[in-house]
Amino acid sequence: MQPATPRTGPAGPGPQNDAAAPATAADAAPAISLRDAELAFGDRVLWSGLNLDVAPGEYLAVLGANGTGKTSFLKVLLGLLPLTSGTVSVAGTRPRAAAAHVGYVPQQRGFPARTPLRAKDLVAQGVDGHRWGVRLHPRRVNRRVAELLERVGATEYADAPVGLLSGGEQQRLRVAQALAADPSVMLCDEALLSLDLHHQHVVSELVHEQRERHGSAVVFVTHDVNPIIDHVDRILYLANGSFRIGTPDEVLRSDVLSDLYGTDIEVLRSNGRILVAGRPDSTHHTDSPEEIIP
Ligand SMILES: Nc1ncnc2c1ncn2[C@@H]1O[C@H](COP(=O)(O)OP(=O)(O)OP(=O)(O)O)[C@@H](O)[C@H]1O
Ligand SMILES: [Mg+2]
Repeated sequence: MQPATPRTGPAGPGPQNDAAAPATAADAAPAISLRDAELAFGDRVLWSGLNLDVAPGEYLAVLGANGTGKTSFLKVLLGLLPLTSGTVSVAGTRPRAAAAHVGYVPQQRGFPARTPLRAKDLVAQGVDGHRWGVRLHPRRVNRRVAELLERVGATEYADAPVGLLSGGEQQRLRVAQALAADPSVMLCDEALLSLDLHHQHVVSELVHEQRERHGSAVVFVTHDVNPIIDHVDRILYLANGSFRIGTPDEVLRSDVLSDLYGTDIEVLRSNGRILVAGRPDSTHHTDSPEEIIP
């Protein structure tokens, strides 16, 4: 059973932010576990007091304005950033030791035009045979790469130099690369950015399928929750050095987000879309107060 009230960060009402995974997966060892986790850069605390278990097969969306620490959260899970305090484990071990179990779609940066890789070489980098205990035979690697390229609709540009591909074409390759090793934890940083509506759907279905078929936990950072809302189990919403955790219905509410932001926020539902209106500036990046973005 989900709780009736939102699980809250330290600034919010209610008990501990002890964010256990949904009951269906509650018995499984968590894919991701954070205890009293804090991340700060100098005096600036991005988040603290974070207690969160993400179960195998659970889909967590991470929302928040620019600079609130979403990418940094993923970097902690990747072992690229140390927590300021508290503990974190991924796939039951230290984040760095879990690398073979993690598929990562990094926040988009274009490949330089002269990158000496073809599209299929990039995807092949993600196929490494650790699941089978030995490296795959080149023919099997080629088969797997072809299958992944097909799944993200990239077959026709398999031989193109990645640096000459469009932003969306590059992005689809990153998703294929992240799926390649059949990860038990998928970390996606704005993975739908630059994609047209059709490919947004294709990629969000692929990520969903990965968790449905293989029980992978998904952490999906996004500025627009709408394309993935049907798949999301829980949301981690970051703002003002604090956060809220809960199901979409628990977190995406005017009262909860107004409390988090400390000002009036309106959550609107229109034609099945969720819009967060009146979001104030984040800590130092600019977002127009009139902006309407989740
Ligand atoms: N290694 C670092 N040292 C100091 N400050 C950092 C470091 N990494 C990130 N920051 C700062 O921490 C804040 C959070 O960065 P992060 O990249 O996590 O934001 P984000 O929520 O992903 O934002 P966006 O929506 O723009 O991608 C930013 O202000 C960033 O400049
Ligand atoms: Mg980011």
